[in-house]
Amino acid sequence: MTPEFANDLKASVRAIPDYPKPGIIFRDITTLLGEPRAFRRAIDELVQPWAGSKIDKVAGIEARGFIIGGAIAHQVSSGFVPIRKKGKLPHTCVSMEYALEYGTDKIEVHVDAITPGERVILVDDLIATGGTAEGAIKLLRQIGAEVVAACFVIDLPELGGAAKIRAMGVPVRTLVAFE
Ligand code: PRP
Ligand code: ADE
Repeated sequence: MTPEFANDLKASVRAIPDYPKPGIIFRDITTLLGEPRAFRRAIDELVQPWAGSKIDKVAGIEARGFIIGGAIAHQVSSGFVPIRKKGKLPHTCVSMEYALEYGTDKIEVHVDAITPGERVILVDDLIATGGTAEGAIKLLRQIGAEVVAACFVIDLPELGGAAKIRAMGVPVRTLVAFE
């Protein structure tokens, strides 16, 4: 990725101060998604290391991981697996508790979403503490996936999420970082 494009991409993410709580700067990707060139190039850049390699499924985390993950699945000609907040998926699920900043929540995936041994890329818009992605990787491994990578448009490196996911043995790709 050229430094110019990295700068353009960063500039296309809107910062919303004090959302959803005082002191949080929310990194809003709706502005990036609304710019055709930024959206297309972000998808192209994220999948670039896997161009031509066999990916069976892309797993996207609700909600913004569905948008990025769906586009990536199309690009690599794979299936798409939704990872949802609890109670949203209609068929039999496996669940995983994951850590939030304060407390825990649950994410779920259909028990038959993956054929054991399938090569899966995990996708979300942003990684912060890594609690959500860690839970998603455990869930995918539980149903037999080989998680070959985790991709995020945005990294908040000070929160340590990407390092946590790498420590699980999963390569991490991110495009822009905010302190
Ligand atoms: C955001 C983001 C990731 C998660 C990252 O989702 O889209 O899924 O936070 O945080 P973490 O690395 O600290 O786990 P959010 O929880 O806001 O849910 P939403 O997409 O349903 O709004
Ligand atoms: N998820 C966790 N922290 C976030 C932030 N600062 N902006 C957007 N999504 C987030």
